[in-house]
This record gives sequence, structure tokens and C-alpha cells, in this order.
Amino acid sequence: MKSLTIFAFLFIGAALGDIVPASVPKEFLEKLHERTMQPRVVGGNDAVPKQFPYQVGVSTKKLGSFYWCGGSVISELYVLTAAHCVAGEIDSVLLIFGATDRLDVYQTGSSRQNITNVSGQIIVHPLYNPNEITSDVALIRLNQKLEFSDYIQPARLPERNRFQTFANSPAVLSGWGKVKDIGSVVQHLQYGYVSILDLNECMAYYNIKEYDNGNICLNTKDSNVSSCNGDSGGPLVSTMTGELIGVTSFGSIFGCAGGAPTGYSRVTHFRDWINYHTGL
Ligand SMILES: *[C@@H]1O[C@H](CO)[C@@H](O)[C@H](O)[C@H]1NC(C)=O
Ligand SMILES: *[C@@H]1O[C@H](CO)[C@@H](O)[C@H](O)[C@H]1NC(C)=O
Ligand SMILES: *[C@@H]1O[C@H](CO)[C@@H](O)[C@H](O)[C@H]1NC(C)=O
Repeated sequence: MKSLTIFAFLFIGAALGDIVPASVPKEFLEKLHERTMQPRVVGGNDAVPKQFPYQVGVSTKKLGSFYWCGGSVISELYVLTAAHCVAGEIDSVLLIFGATDRLDVYQTGSSRQNITNVSGQIIVHPLYNPNEITSDVALIRLNQKLEFSDYIQPARLPERNRFQTFANSPAVLSGWGKVKDIGSVVQHLQYGYVSILDLNECMAYYNIKEYDNGNICLNTKDSNVSSCNGDSGGPLVSTMTGELIGVTSFGSIFGCAGGAPTGYSRVTHFRDWINYHTGL
């Protein structure tokens, strides 16, 4: 059972603000307090404008609460994100494009779309399983076509029918997620370089015996860089091929700074599903 040791990397808080990670199970918080977690940087460095033009900030409103996630522009009409960010009764989704400062409405090159009628705009993978956190991918269809610029560009998707494990190869992740285990999502976009872990090793770590190729995991121990709450749905891009290979999905209940592998939905595994819905 994955659900015993992993949890999804979304973040609940005020509208674009910073309150508490209430979606984290209570027992997780208790365990955190038992341990003395190092308040070290989980993400790494401040991103600069145009560096991650495919990065999207995703703020969803669900039953009156606000959640923070990431996403990737994959075309002028579609954003790829995690299913756990947009599944269920969503009231509205605010998408922030071309930004490094998620709170600056007037940042040069940035734009926003608030989708207030999500009916027909969100496509969650039919096999998404919130307990096991599998098939954790979703598409958001935009109301208005994006205008591409130096600040806003689609991520390059891997070709269809091409499977690669990517094990031990380098990648870059980005997001506004927490930079330490205790705290909140941050205002300035962060990024870090990471190395991809052998999938078997990752699943052995979490004691998951049955699994498919739907995930990519990262070795966060060697790089000291890890995704954390609020990074969910955001991009993992191969620095070898420049392609979007992962969608941020889960981490260890013991926190992001402890060196546990982090999990991503493997884009190649869901490539045909993306194509079916978007034609890409
Ligand atoms: C988006 O619009 C809806 C409906 O007007 C509103 O309730 C919600 O607060 C807006 N979202 C954000 C993040 O501004
Ligand atoms: C929301 O969108 C759906 C599908 O496009 C449409 O049928 C419905 O009337 C819309 N609802 C509102 C309140 O505009
Ligand atoms: C990661 O952190 C450990 C312990 O603080 C340190 O020894 C190691 O050099 C760091 N690795 C990198 C790549 O920064």
C-alpha cells in the first residue's frame, strides 16, 4: 500500500496566500514534530523570468478552500497537471503563466486565466487512484488561447511510443512549493537540478511491490533538492533531451528534506492519453 508512506504534494491555504498545509494527514504532522527536520532549502535557487516559460501556477478553489499546485503549458490550449490538484468538485481554477512572482499580477510577460466554470475544462485520467496515487495526471483546457512569447512557451513533450527509464540521468524541476518541511508555499519560483532514480529502487524504498511504469522517481539524497507541498502537478524536464518527462506527484510522509525519493507521473506512460485528448 503506497498510501501508508506517501502523500500527494498539494498545498492548501488561503487565496494565493500562505496558511497551513492542512491537507497533510495529522499523523504526518505528529511524525514531523517527533523528528528534528533540518530547515534546509528543498528547492535550490530563484528562477529568473523566461527560464521556465512552460511553468504554470495553479490555484484551485474547492468547497471554499484554496489549493496551490503547479502545471506545465503543453500547447496554447492545454495545461498538464496532477490529477490530485484538480479532481473532485472544483469551483474555479486560477492559472498563472509566464511568472516568477506568483503574487505580482502585473509582472512583465505574465498572464492569468481564472476558469470559473470548470465544466468540461478538466480531464482527469480515468485510472487516477487517489489512495495509491497512481495515474496522477490531468489536463486543463483553457478558455482562451495562450499568446506565446519569451515568457510563455509550451514544454516539449516526448515523442509517442518512446519509452526511456531515464534512470541516473539529470533533470530540472521547478515550482512555488515549500522550501522546507515546516512552512508555506513561496512567492518566488524555485528550481533545482536532480538525478533520476531507478524505479525499482524507489518502489523498494516505499515497499511497493506491484507497480507499472507510471512513475519516475528522483534521488533527492545526492542533490539535496526535492519537490515539496505546492509543487504538485509541476514540471520535471530532462536536461538531456529538454523534454517534459514528469508531473510532480508524491513524496514521503516523513517530509521533503529527509532524502526520501519523490514521485512523478511519467509523461511517456501517459503520452497516448495526452494525444487522445489534445491531439498533441
Ligand atoms: C476566480 O473567480 C471565482 C469566481 O468569480 C472567484 O470565486 C475566485 O476567488 C477567483 N479565484 C481567484 C484565485 O481569484
Ligand atoms: C458551464 O459550462 C457548461 C459546459 O460548457 C455549460 O453547459 C453551463 O451552462 C455553464 N454554466 C454556467 C453557469 O455558465
Ligand atoms: C548534500 O548534503 C550533504 C549533507 O549536508 C552534503 O554532505 C552534500 O555535499 C550535499 N550534496 C550536494 C550536491 O550539495
